[in-house]
Amino acid sequence: MDKFVIQGRTPLRGSIQVSGAKNAALPAMAACLLAPAKIVLKNVPNVMDVRTMKRLLERMGATVTFANNVLTVDTSDGIGHEAPYDLVKTMRASYYVLGPLLGRLGQARVSLPGGCAIGARPIDLHLLGMKELGAEIEIDHGYVVAKGRRLSGKAMRLAGKHGSSVGATINVMMAATLARGKTIIEQAACEPEVTDVADLLNRMGAKITGAGTPVMEILGVEALHEAEHTLISDRIECSTYLVAGAITGGELEVVNCEPRLVWSVVEKLREACVEVEIRDHRILVTNPRPRCTVDVTVAPYPGFPTDMQAQIMALATVTPGISVITETIFENRFMQVLELQRLGANIRIEGTSAIVKGVAKLTGAPVMASDLRASAALVLAGMVAEGETEISRVYHIDRGYEGIEIKLNAVGARIERIHEPWG
Ligand code: EPZ
Repeated sequence: MDKFVIQGRTPLRGSIQVSGAKNAALPAMAACLLAPAKIVLKNVPNVMDVRTMKRLLERMGATVTFANNVLTVDTSDGIGHEAPYDLVKTMRASYYVLGPLLGRLGQARVSLPGGCAIGARPIDLHLLGMKELGAEIEIDHGYVVAKGRRLSGKAMRLAGKHGSSVGATINVMMAATLARGKTIIEQAACEPEVTDVADLLNRMGAKITGAGTPVMEILGVEALHEAEHTLISDRIECSTYLVAGAITGGELEVVNCEPRLVWSVVEKLREACVEVEIRDHRILVTNPRPRCTVDVTVAPYPGFPTDMQAQIMALATVTPGISVITETIFENRFMQVLELQRLGANIRIEGTSAIVKGVAKLTGAPVMASDLRASAALVLAGMVAEGETEISRVYHIDRGYEGIEIKLNAVGARIERIHEPWG
């Protein structure tokens, strides 16, 4: 278990590069199972979750190579239909193999993922969608066992009490590519990662329209084939670095990003009196003036992403005045609060909102990473805190940020990774 030791109060200056989107890469890798062919994915981030998904696909019989952010998956020699507990429990996104296995093989045995640090994360909508396509589903000894010979297209509505589901939309879309007839998904998630996976599937020969809108249509085809696809850049990594520039008061250019995908974050930064200049695939962030408070309520895309809630809270802890940050998608996504308080932040939780009263300074302390985005918030806070902040359990950060300390150190941060093999 590695830890980070951060020396704070270092303004960031220079250019920082965004990697490909983790949350597009994981379903895209699962989508490769649909075709008995070689699929080439480019701009794949070298993060732990991608390496876990690689292991899962290999366990299922795929041949996978991964070098220089190019990943190939070849399943022309066939695949098994089981995703075992030991891998699924380490990464929920493993359940993305359910749809492709059902679509291609007509059967799947996928372990249920179990608990999650950010709240209850049921998979009922995934299962509902598969049942709508004609699959029979049972839960057997902790596994979802699904059978469905050839699935049949159907019109369905996929939304729960928290609205649409990114995962269920993608999973059902993948299964439906090989179903007989037309599938219509209403209240589909509109996140850019859904569109990116649909683009990949269309390159593989699928017939999907309406991705990125609440109503998608998938016309089933007989088979999918080889393809090459470049993933979109990671909008959450990009946004995290925008906040890094703002919180440290430097001048940071974030490159290889898609400004259209991060509008909601840019708007909030501007509301916080941060200067943000957009130039093609680059965004420049400077913070020459005192910041203003910022109220944020997370929402599905194109709203402010739940995956940026912790990082914007880190910014609010050192912004004069009172900011209110409201989480609406996950039930337990304020894991960063107790750790930020250890750094001197003034935060009070009221129901689903965090009331953050900006303090003049944070002071370094030992803290613990609890999930991916909460950990990113601690890195941001550590870079602005006075003195030394030690973050343990940084494997959470490694799940979704490619070389975060290397990228940040190159623009002036002082973050040391300490390897603790006994941790
Ligand atoms: C994806 O998770 C992302 N993960 C999450 O990113 C992200 O926070 C989330 O979408 C929301 O944008 C990946 O892409 C791998 P959902 P997902 O299904 O698909 C409820 C990160 O930090 N729900 O859109 O699991 C659910 O509990 C992560 O990178 C059901 O009720 O999220 C939540 O309240 C963490 N039943 C809401 O819907 C279901 O069957 C949205 O979840 C499925 C979901």
